[in-house]
Order: sequence, then C-alpha cells, then structure tokens
Amino acid sequence: MLEKIEDLLVEVGNFSSANKDEIEQFRIKFSGKKGIINDILAQFKEVPNEQKKEFGQKINTLKQAVEAKLEGLKNATTSTILFEKDDLTKPGFPSELGTRHPINLVKNRIIEIFRSIGFAVADGPEIEDDWHNFTALNLPEYHPARDMQDTFFIETNPDLLLRTHTSSVQIRYMEENQPPMRILSPGRVFRNEAISSRSHCIFHQIEGLYIDQNVSFADLKQTIQYFTTELFGKSKIRLRPSYFPFTEPSAEVDVYWGLNSETDYRITKGTGWLEIMGCGMVDPAVLANVNIDADKYSGYAFGMGIERIAMLMYQMSDIRMFFENDKRMLEQFKSL
Ligand code: PHE
Repeated sequence: MLEKIEDLLVEVGNFSSANKDEIEQFRIKFSGKKGIINDILAQFKEVPNEQKKEFGQKINTLKQAVEAKLEGLKNATTSTILFEKDDLTKPGFPSELGTRHPINLVKNRIIEIFRSIGFAVADGPEIEDDWHNFTALNLPEYHPARDMQDTFFIETNPDLLLRTHTSSVQIRYMEENQPPMRILSPGRVFRNEAISSRSHCIFHQIEGLYIDQNVSFADLKQTIQYFTTELFGKSKIRLRPSYFPFTEPSAEVDVYWGLNSETDYRITKGTGWLEIMGCGMVDPAVLANVNIDADKYSGYAFGMGIERIAMLMYQMSDIRMFFENDKRMLEQFKSL
C-alpha cells in the first residue's frame, strides 16, 4: 500500500499540462469524490495499527502534492488563457497628451532668444512691497505716475501689493548682485483694470535688464532689433520717445507689421505699426537706490506683455481666451 502511494507521488510530480480539460481530469482522478485519495482513505481502517501513523503521513503528503500541483497549473493556465484571449501586440489605450499653453510657448521662445545672447532668467515674488514695485523704481509716494498702474493692495498690510509689473525684479536682482548683469524675468503681474477683450487684471510680462560699464542706447536698440527679427522675422522697428519714471531716456518700441491683410489693418489701426514694449536707459536714481555706482555703470531695461505678443503671433482677438482655458483653444497648440 505504501509503495502504491509512492508511485502515485511520482505520477503527481510528473504531471504537467496546459490544457484545461486534462487538468480537470487530473483533479477528478485524484481529488474527486470517487478519486484516488478518497479511495485510499477508505482503506485506512484496514491498515494495521502500528502502520497507521506512517500511512496517514503518506496520504497527507499525497494530498498536499496534488493540491500544490493543481495550484501551480492554475497559475500557469491563467497566463496562457490571457495570452490566447488578448492580442498583446495590439496598441494600448491611447493616453491623451497635454498641450503647452500659448503663453508658455511665447515665453519660452523669448527666453530662448535672449539666452542665446547671454541673458539669465531671474525670478521674484508676485506679492511685492511698495519699495520694490514703486519707490526704488523712482516712483515715490504720491508720484502721479503711480496712477499709470492701478494697483491691488493687500488689505491687511498697506505696504504689500500684487506687483503691477516685473520691473520689481530688477530692483531685487540689483540689490543682491553686482554688475555686470544681464537678466530676463518673466512672470505674472496684476492690475486693477476692467476686464475686456484687450485688457485683463492678470497678465504676463517679461522684463530685461543689462547693467555694465559703457552700456549705451545703441546697445539697447541693437538688442531689440535682434530680438524682433528672431521672434517675428520682421526687422523694421522704430523707437518712439516715451516716459517711465525708472528709465531716462525712455522709449516705446513699435514693429512694422505691414498691411497685407484685413487683420493687419485692424490690429495696427491702419498704420502698419505695432507697439510691443517699453524700454529705456536705467535712471541713475534707480542705480543709486540699489547702491550701484552710476558714474561707473550704466544699463538698459525693457518690459513687454506676453499676451500681447501671443495675440499677434497666433492672431487671437480676445485676451480673455488665455485665462478661460477652453480645451478647443488649447488643443490647437498640440503639435507645437
Ligand atoms: N514696467 C513697464 C510697464 O509695465 C515697462 C518697462 C520696463 C518700461 C522696463 C521700461 C523699462 O509698463
């Protein structure tokens, strides 16, 4: 009897199949109601008492071997069945790719252009104090030019406000660093303006600042010329005298956009020229505020609105579209 069980153990050990029916037959043969194991157990009472212990252990071993085998084959077959059902060479479920926001596309392009001529990127806080946003930029309290930028103040602290321009980063950078310096600082700015198709209370600017010995207005003009040619492929620019408290002299830059289409007429108001940024030579009073020797150093600064440039590049007619994030608009930038 014991030998018979030994033989059965070998048979169980050797059994192997990936076929469900064969495995089921194996199960019935050993573990079924009228299977081998029950058959042996039925003979148990006939086994002499002194052999009962050894006999019992053997039956248990066989039982466990059958169970382990069935478990092993079950795992093997599930993976086989999966393979039969699903074509693993089929492409997976497509996961939708995100798109870049047009503001970021334009921002990145502008950074890339200025990086190629040595400008580094600098950052500053969106919640600013009066000093960095106004006073240090030659806009003392009660200066009428403060009205040029309607400001959101922080109610609990009259010294704090949401920055109205990225020029505040100029001050922060000059306070911490010594010339020569060449930086670009992109970021969000905030103005208390009525929202319309042409203006929003939140928008983005990019500020540029270059301070060194012997920096001249000609350097400023050349840099802007290079920039507009790279960005728009249009190289005709003009500088109109303007006023900013922190630059002297100051200018506004127009690019000649042309009058080739109806849109060109509309966006340039029939002149062909488009204003794209403010700029100027950093006022010596500003340099003095950040302890830079204005007799030794000079420099220029410029600032532009990213939305405005993006609207030009992508022919968008409403600034609000940048903030609504309508997927139908965003998806148009997929391939960029
Ligand atoms: N800060 C100005 C604005 O917001 C733009 C500017 C920046 C002008 C730097 C001159 C120099 O309108």
